[in-house]
Amino acid sequence: MPLHQASGIKYLQTAEKAMCNVPSARLAIHGGSPVWNSGWPKWPRADAGTERVVLEALHSGRWSISGCHTGVRSFERRFAEEFAAYNNSAYCVPTASGSASLSIALEAVGVRHGDEVLVPGLTWVACASSVAALGAVPVLVDIEPDTLCMSVDAARKAIGPKTAAIMLVHLYGTVGNLDAFVALAEEHEIPLIEDCAQAHGARWRGRRVGTHGKVGAFSMQHSKVLTSGEGGAVITDDFDVYERMQQLRADGRRYCSDEPRPRFMELEEVGQIQGRNRCLSELQAAILLDRLQYLDAENSLREVNGEYLGGLLQQRGLAVLQRRPSQVESRTFYHFCVRLRDEAFCGLPSAIVAEALTAELGVLVEPVDDPLNRHRLYNPLKSPRTDLSSQMRYLLDPSRFDLPNCDDAKRTCLTLPHAVLLANKDAIDAIATAFEKVAQGSKSLAQATGGQPSIQATSADSPISVASIDLSWSGNE
Ligand SMILES: Cc1ncc(COP(=O)(O)O)c(C=O)c1O
Repeated sequence: MPLHQASGIKYLQTAEKAMCNVPSARLAIHGGSPVWNSGWPKWPRADAGTERVVLEALHSGRWSISGCHTGVRSFERRFAEEFAAYNNSAYCVPTASGSASLSIALEAVGVRHGDEVLVPGLTWVACASSVAALGAVPVLVDIEPDTLCMSVDAARKAIGPKTAAIMLVHLYGTVGNLDAFVALAEEHEIPLIEDCAQAHGARWRGRRVGTHGKVGAFSMQHSKVLTSGEGGAVITDDFDVYERMQQLRADGRRYCSDEPRPRFMELEEVGQIQGRNRCLSELQAAILLDRLQYLDAENSLREVNGEYLGGLLQQRGLAVLQRRPSQVESRTFYHFCVRLRDEAFCGLPSAIVAEALTAELGVLVEPVDDPLNRHRLYNPLKSPRTDLSSQMRYLLDPSRFDLPNCDDAKRTCLTLPHAVLLANKDAIDAIATAFEKVAQGSKSLAQATGGQPSIQATSADSPISVASIDLSWSGNE
């Protein structure tokens, strides 16, 4: 039974008391003093060890896997081995970006022009644009309201004769329903691609994400929990898929079968499939190899702080954390994402609350991304294609999809970057205080922004009406 249900009445009393005890104060966005101005942990992180390996790569005389072998093992190949081992996966191919990872994964599992791929309606645009770039059709699928990951029921309804793959994204701070998606993919004999760009190191039933489907695709872009500025990787247990993925990322080449000789290439030409150059550089691989050793410890700290902060916000009736299914054994927080309680924030849109929190905390707080059926950056019809039949025009038009749960998430959810979860307890407490202060000031915020509160104010002068709180989104299973 969820913790909040077990605690029953006690929870409600705590919430009421907490709301009444917060002194009302002018919001920082209206010229008041911010709750926190002591700064936040820097991201990305680098230390003397990182500097050492970057300099080693810099002076090695070899900056890419496609450069001649110097007699020293490439960072790229070492990272591939280490990342495969970290995930307990048979194979890993490093790539230039998360987008490259997705393109390579889609092609390697056999997605072709005209095929359909299920993509969640709430995710970064690259998930859908990488499908459209292949001439395939992204079918936008609505999300579960509590995890914000793709809904398996909606996915089941969206499967048709042309469905060639399912792309499940583990979003922000949780993991999609892998048991159900693995079963669905098996039932329909469709490959499951796990997009793990936001979930490096998370575990579902004891196994890392990325190893449950056919391919796990990762991004190591600047904001990610394992980063080299830009970069990516794909992992798989399937040897044939691995062979294709190697060639897809290096112009049809793969690692030499024999030990490479100095001054010769470490890649041999195969050309069984049309590849392109999407290789990770030696400098990037050196950074990833170094930072990988800290990933578990950083994830654990973020997990402890994330659950603690989520608990504070829930106890105070302010917001609820993304649900963590019971199968998730270790959680990765890429963003700390919560759903605001309308009752606490006068029904203000998350964008307005996010701006006020940014002013209180000195860190960028944002609403979740726009749903892909109305995202400014997702424009498959504006791609320079010729021969776009009227049927393809219809199929690629994002506005044909209805995504009510994504819309709702856009209105009510907001995110903080994961670096805040690497801070100390005082800083984490300050985040909860800032939420409380903004809730108290939400009436004035509504007036100042010209938005009418859609719900009667509950803060400062009228304590939150806990009886009206819907607890169904909170807590862990
Ligand atoms: C879920 C998801 N997939 C794919 C990508 C694309 O990764 P990249 O920016 O490295 O191309 C991102 C990047 O934010 C992402 O969040």
